[in-house]
Amino acid sequence: MAVATKSSIAFLLISSLLLGSPYLSLSEATVDQSVPIVSGLSWTFYQNTCPTVEFIIRNYLMSVFSSDIGQAAGLLRLHFHDCFVQGCDASVLLDGSASGPGEQQAPPNLTLRARAFQIINELRNRIENACGRVVSCADIVALAARESVYLSGGPYYGVPLGRRDGLTFATINATLQNLPPPFANTTTILSMLATKNFDPTDVVALSGGHTIGLSHCTSFTPRLYPNQDPTMDQTFARNLKVICPTANSTNTTVMDIRSPNIFDNKYYVDLLNRQGLFTSDQDLYTDSRTRGIVTSFAVNQSLFFEKFAVAMIKMGQLSVLTGNNGEIRANCSVRNSRIKSDLVSVVEELPVEEGRSEF
Ligand code: HEM
Repeated sequence: MAVATKSSIAFLLISSLLLGSPYLSLSEATVDQSVPIVSGLSWTFYQNTCPTVEFIIRNYLMSVFSSDIGQAAGLLRLHFHDCFVQGCDASVLLDGSASGPGEQQAPPNLTLRARAFQIINELRNRIENACGRVVSCADIVALAARESVYLSGGPYYGVPLGRRDGLTFATINATLQNLPPPFANTTTILSMLATKNFDPTDVVALSGGHTIGLSHCTSFTPRLYPNQDPTMDQTFARNLKVICPTANSTNTTVMDIRSPNIFDNKYYVDLLNRQGLFTSDQDLYTDSRTRGIVTSFAVNQSLFFEKFAVAMIKMGQLSVLTGNNGEIRANCSVRNSRIKSDLVSVVEELPVEEGRSEF
């Protein structure tokens, strides 16, 4: 089993520096031209207002990943969970309010990494220090996901920019309806993603995001207990039962046993060997509509990278807010009007003298 060692990760990070600076020129990304971009977004949105934004993000993430490459998976998944629910509007970052619990309280989001949220806030602060408040949290999430893919060994793709941050978050029910569960089969996944205009190639490519990162046992133990899923390789199942001795074990395991920290096409090789972790993964190889696509990616990493980049650019444009819609948040976890109303209520609670002298 090829596991990314510290030195191979360091090599990827260093070679990404030596290979030039793609963030200085978005047009270098080869797939940009083939994917239409929605009106209001642009490849060069921050060229005048914050030309260093991508540099700041890459620099900070390189330092984070050099000590913990696992954070790349957390950031990639955060972008997916943002875009699939109500569009890429950073609504997943919003704390709940008096109107109800936020998206983070919905079951699929409970396993998002707390550190991913902290990293986005840290990036936002660094970007505001350099450029003022001009870059949205939604754009920061999209760029952080791209860097996560690239710095883990995956493709570099251009990210159309200019998203605005949403003013509302989705309900728990809406969140559940938009994020497919790991127990879903290909029919369900294809039809759920077709509603967002993804074709089967996009679906198989996007699922390749599972080439990095971790899963909790409960996301796949229904495939082990009480009965073992017959489509699962025997040795793989035996090993998973050691990691997850009971159906509700709180342990975690890697999602791509061949190269868990490297963004490559080994996830598809896993599927060919019946070593996919979720039903939603393995069934892509069982189902005749997607089997050929899985095989083509397993034997051709460049093809996978190309299709993944196209699908990510599509995903990153789902129901985006642009122009004067939404806002640029001052704090990614809270919408600006709430910060203002919280301030007002604090001021209102202050004794009159203090309130006047402060404002
Ligand atoms: C197609 C339907 C999908 C399903 C059913 C699904 C389901 C899941 C589940 C259940 C987990 C593990 C959660 C846990 O137990 O901790 C997970 C992890 C992950 N997913 Fe997906 N996912 C899907 C699509 C995607 C897409 C489109 C991407 C990105 C392009 C993605 C990227 C990831 C990553 C990187 C992780 C690991 C996160 C970490 O290590 O913190 N997934 N996914």
